[in-house]
Amino acid sequence: MTRPLRLLMCPPAEFTVRYEINPWMDASRPVDTARAVAQWEALRASYVAAGHAVEIIEPLSGMPDMVYAANGATVAGGVAYAARFFVAERREEAPAYLARLTELGLTPYDAARVNEGEGDLLVAGDMLLAGTGWRTERAAHAEASRALGLPVVTLELVDARFYHLDTALTVLRGTTGEAGDVDVAYFPGAFSAASQEALQRLFPDALLATETDAATFALNALSDGERVWLGAGSPSWEARLRERGYTPVPVDVSEILRGGGSVKCCTLVLR
Ligand code: ARG
Repeated sequence: MTRPLRLLMCPPAEFTVRYEINPWMDASRPVDTARAVAQWEALRASYVAAGHAVEIIEPLSGMPDMVYAANGATVAGGVAYAARFFVAERREEAPAYLARLTELGLTPYDAARVNEGEGDLLVAGDMLLAGTGWRTERAAHAEASRALGLPVVTLELVDARFYHLDTALTVLRGTTGEAGDVDVAYFPGAFSAASQEALQRLFPDALLATETDAATFALNALSDGERVWLGAGSPSWEARLRERGYTPVPVDVSEILRGGGSVKCCTLVLR
């Protein structure tokens, strides 16, 4: 059995698409907020049914992207390293997330550098994989490393569709931050040539995703080391996860996808 995770999620009561800050968002198509809430509830229920604890943060009114809790901070070793959003539309979320995390018992660490939380800063075993190129500035990587006490590996994202690291890479084993066996999946084309080489050196046996897998947000998944929650609609990717010994748990998040985020984006891991 894997150990239970403690997660933070934000209900999409305020969710809509009224601005476009990534290539997936289309403000001309109306969003069904009630449907998004129902899909989010099903995801939360699925985590709870698997034995994981889900903490909640209430959305600030008028903040449609707050459902993407992964961007709210990065948490490891009881420290919550604050987000500092690149996108102006989401800046108010950072202090709200930090306040909630403090209330939940974590030690807040203010960020001087622009970073979008666990969207770009992924804990993999006892290291931090850190994305840059679209949202999180490179200088935040060293700051996050200091804040969380983890060595950091910088990875450069080069494809606008994969603007956060968690859209291009899944930590399959090592999510909880324990040292040891780490397993990852990623789509190489989302990374610069130098970062592809770095990934290959670090994880020679990684599971490689195709562009089609990545473009269905299949990599935007949460793994507890055994089960992998992901948006429904990537059956061939699910088969590859199964071959590798994982149990895919597909959840319909079609409405939430309209903001350019899937399962992982909705989930912040508290370590
Ligand atoms: N609309 C949000 C944005 O562009 C989506 C965030 C997705 N979150 C993530 N962890 N990748 O900021």
